[in-house]
Amino acid sequence: MAKKEVEDGSIPMDKPIVFVTRHIPEEGLEKLREFCEVEVSDYDGVIPREILLRKVEGKKGLLALLTDRIDREVMERAGPFLLVISNYAAGFNNIDVQEATKRGIMVTNTPHVLTETTADFTWALLLTVARRVVEADRFTRSALFQGWDPFLFWGNDVYGKLLGIVGLGKIGKAVAKRAQGFNMKVWYYNRQRLPQEERWSVEYQALPQLLEEADFVTLHVPLTSATYHLIGEKELKLMKKEAYLINTSRGEVVDEKALVRALQEGWIAGAALDVFEKEPQIEKELLELPNVVLTPHIGSASKTTRVRMAIIAAENMLRALQGEIPQYLVNPEVIHRKN
Ligand code: GLV
Ligand code: GLV
Repeated sequence: MAKKEVEDGSIPMDKPIVFVTRHIPEEGLEKLREFCEVEVSDYDGVIPREILLRKVEGKKGLLALLTDRIDREVMERAGPFLLVISNYAAGFNNIDVQEATKRGIMVTNTPHVLTETTADFTWALLLTVARRVVEADRFTRSALFQGWDPFLFWGNDVYGKLLGIVGLGKIGKAVAKRAQGFNMKVWYYNRQRLPQEERWSVEYQALPQLLEEADFVTLHVPLTSATYHLIGEKELKLMKKEAYLINTSRGEVVDEKALVRALQEGWIAGAALDVFEKEPQIEKELLELPNVVLTPHIGSASKTTRVRMAIIAAENMLRALQGEIPQYLVNPEVIHRKN
């Protein structure tokens, strides 16, 4: 694979300089420092656009977060030596991959490691919303508990119900496996049917059928132009009044305004959301609704997983800088393009 060379053939002998847009676990940074000059943003929070544009200039590698929009402008500002954008996330909808490919820039992500962790969290949300754990916690803390009560905090059962999985990718499958322990029937909808998976008791359904019948609908699609607002007013109206929606994928997959109405007007029983349409902003009404559980995009946030993600993001970056093919290359077409 061709390395980017300076026009006159001279290759700078110094360590390549890479920019990391926010502090990530030290294990990843240490790995990078073995071979690179590492600049880490010292801004406390999501890096402001202006700083990003300035810091990226002349870098060979950019380690970005899903909160950073990496578009043409960023790549342009980086200049011709930018070789790799390593995203510290499984999703990469924050990056204009097509533009990167056009410019011969490799884009990498950190899938697999977060699959089980995110599936665990999806179940945490599902159980929490069905059994009203957050409401009950608030009640208990408020010293309102007067002793066991036959009618206190009735929720809905999870075991034996119908789980509808939208998007049967790695995380969707891991969620499906856990459903067996709850003796649930599992339906899935996926752009492509997956006959292999159907051998172990997940059943394919068209999306409208799945929405009409499932007791729990959980979303595990990537965000693309095809999945933007996949769940809007029409879809929410198809769902059962007793059903719950769980979203640990991307906020934009759901029309958040329509969801507010669904929850206010009782089209569905409740929702549990780890992701939002305009993070970190959230529809104000959602904050006031009792039948929704809200978490701040922490699906992959276990200690082990976040450290592993940092190591993988660093490895992806190093392989690309060393002229090898990174393990988790999002745009393999970039390689053919360059040769
Ligand atoms: C988290 O949302 C990720 O894509 O890693
Ligand atoms: C509940 O605590 C019961 O014993 O029924």
